Amino acid sequence: MTRGGGRSIFGRIAVQVALVVMLLAVGQSAAGESSKPQDPPSSSPEAVERGLAQFRKMLTEDPWSNPAFLDADRGEAIWKEKRGPRRQSLEACDLGLGPGVVDGAYAQLPRYFPDARRVMDVESRVLWCMQRYQGFNAAAFLKKPYPASGQPVGEIGAIATWIASRSDKKTMAPRMSHPKEWEAVALGDALFHRRQGPFDFSCASCHGEKGKRIRLQSLPQLSSPAEARKVMGEWPAYRVSTAHVMTLQHRLMDCYWQMRLPPLRFGAEASIALVAYLKHVAQGAEIKAPGLKR
Ligand code: HEC
Repeated sequence: MTRGGGRSIFGRIAVQVALVVMLLAVGQSAAGESSKPQDPPSSSPEAVERGLAQFRKMLTEDPWSNPAFLDADRGEAIWKEKRGPRRQSLEACDLGLGPGVVDGAYAQLPRYFPDARRVMDVESRVLWCMQRYQGFNAAAFLKKPYPASGQPVGEIGAIATWIASRSDKKTMAPRMSHPKEWEAVALGDALFHRRQGPFDFSCASCHGEKGKRIRLQSLPQLSSPAEARKVMGEWPAYRVSTAHVMTLQHRLMDCYWQMRLPPLRFGAEASIALVAYLKHVAQGAEIKAPGLKR
C-alpha cells in the first residue's frame, strides 16, 4: 500500500494532535447543541456518546484520516523486507490462499494450516512465518507483544493491519471445513460462556446481552450475529483513547485482564479459539479494516 507511505513521524504526530483537537471540539459542540452557550459542557453519557458518534463520522468521512493506514504501510514494508537471521522476506508465507497471496486471505482467517497442524489467526500465523522463514525467535517477541499507550503497534500488529486492509470490503468468512476449525469454534464458544476468575466473570457477563455499558463504553453483544457483525469486521483498529492500533489478540488480552485472569498469552489456543468463535458468530460481516475505535 502506498497511501500515506511518505508520511514521517511528524506526520503521524500531526495526525494524532489533529485527532485530539477534533475530539475536544466535537465534545464541546455536542455538549453545546442542546444548551445555552454559557452552560458548562455536559458530560452526560448521551452527550459524550453523541460527540463520539460525530467524531467517528468525521473520521470515516475521510477514510484516509485513520492513522492506522500508516501502520498498514509500515506492515507492508516489513513484510517485504529481507530480515531476520535468514535474511528472508515474508513473501513465501502462506496465509491460506497460497504462498505470498495476501489479498482476501484475512477474510478466511482463522483457519487450519496443515504445515503448522493447528488453527491460526492472522497474528499467530505471521509470528509462525517469521520463525519459519526468517528464523526469528518467538520468545523474544512474546516478552512484550503489545504497545503501551501512545506507542505504535509492534511489527506483527503492523503486518496484521496491512493484511487485514487487503481484505477491506470483503465478506468475513472464516474457514469451516476442517474438524479442527469446528473444534476451535466450539472451544471459543465454551470459553466465552464460562464463568471464571475472582469475579466469576465470563465474556458473556459483559458481552452477552444487548445494550450493556461500563461507564461510557458500550459493550457489544458479541454472541449475537447482528451485533457481532457490526464490530468484528473493524479489527485491527486504531484506538483513539490509547493512540495506537490495537489488534484482536491485544483486545482479548485486555478483556481477560478486566476479568482479573492471568494474562492471556499471545497466540494461545484459547485466544485463537475465541477469535474463531467471535468471527464465526460475525460471519457475513463486511470487513472494514483497519477500523477505528473510541
Ligand atoms: C468486565 C467486562 C468485560 C468482560 C468480562 C469482557 N469484556 Fe470485552 N470489552 C469490555 C469493554 C469495556 C470493551 C470496550 C472497550 C472500549 O470501548 O475500548 C470490550 C471490548 C471487547 C471487544 C471489542 C468490541 C468492538 O467494539 O469491536 C471484543 C472483541 C471483546 N471485548 C471480547 C471479549 C471476550 C472474548 C471476552 C472474554 C474473554 C471479554 N471481552 C470479556 C469489557 C469486558
